[in-house]
Amino acid sequence: MALIIGNWKMHGSAASLVEVGQMIDGAEAAAKDGMQLVVCPPATMLREVSAACRDTKVQTGGQDCHHEPSGAHTGCIAAEMLAEAGASYCIIGHSEARARSGDSNERLGAKVDAVLRVGMVPIFCVGESLEERQDLRAIDVVTGQLDVVAGKADQVIVAYEPIWAIGTGLTPKDADIAEMHLAMREKLGPQPPLLYGGSVKPGNAAEILRIDNVGGALVGGASLVAKDFLAIARAI
Ligand code: PGA
Repeated sequence: MALIIGNWKMHGSAASLVEVGQMIDGAEAAAKDGMQLVVCPPATMLREVSAACRDTKVQTGGQDCHHEPSGAHTGCIAAEMLAEAGASYCIIGHSEARARSGDSNERLGAKVDAVLRVGMVPIFCVGESLEERQDLRAIDVVTGQLDVVAGKADQVIVAYEPIWAIGTGLTPKDADIAEMHLAMREKLGPQPPLLYGGSVKPGNAAEILRIDNVGGALVGGASLVAKDFLAIARAI
């Protein structure tokens, strides 16, 4: 089963429901080929998008959550709320969220536990900065980040997203993606799906998704348009 997960970030409006409808139509055929499509819209749209996706081959996810089930945390969303709105997955540790919140490994672990607590699947993101790659520290940095989920590898999805590849149009060499995914596989064992994310587009998806140990993609910009998102799904 290959996973193609769309991370809409802070994009989307009522008009995006038209795109969701087209994704649902296209997902039926993709699912026959062993493909699971997931869309992670902004939290305000989650209930509506999840309702549109009910009993279809598209599932939904949140983009981040608080680790507590409720409390005086202005602006935050609990995993319980995402699940109630219809989400089956939640992204945790995306580099944009890490940069904003400064979450420690301990806090990220608590968020992963919160997602599991409500029966959703965590999509745990890891990735190095350009400086860390240039200093030949990428593998150490990423495998260190994986300590958070190493004890729960059978319950999570992991997405390798080099920070410098997100939204830039740049992607690592195939050999670098292969090397990183092998290191992640060796650390986590055979169970978790390992995705690649960072400037995945219809034009490069087939090549990236062919790399050993790459079990799917986490897609930002190209997931907003149904035609592009489905083309990536079809690339496997
Ligand atoms: P991108 O984003 O596909 O726009 O590079 C990927 C992500 O941040 O998940």
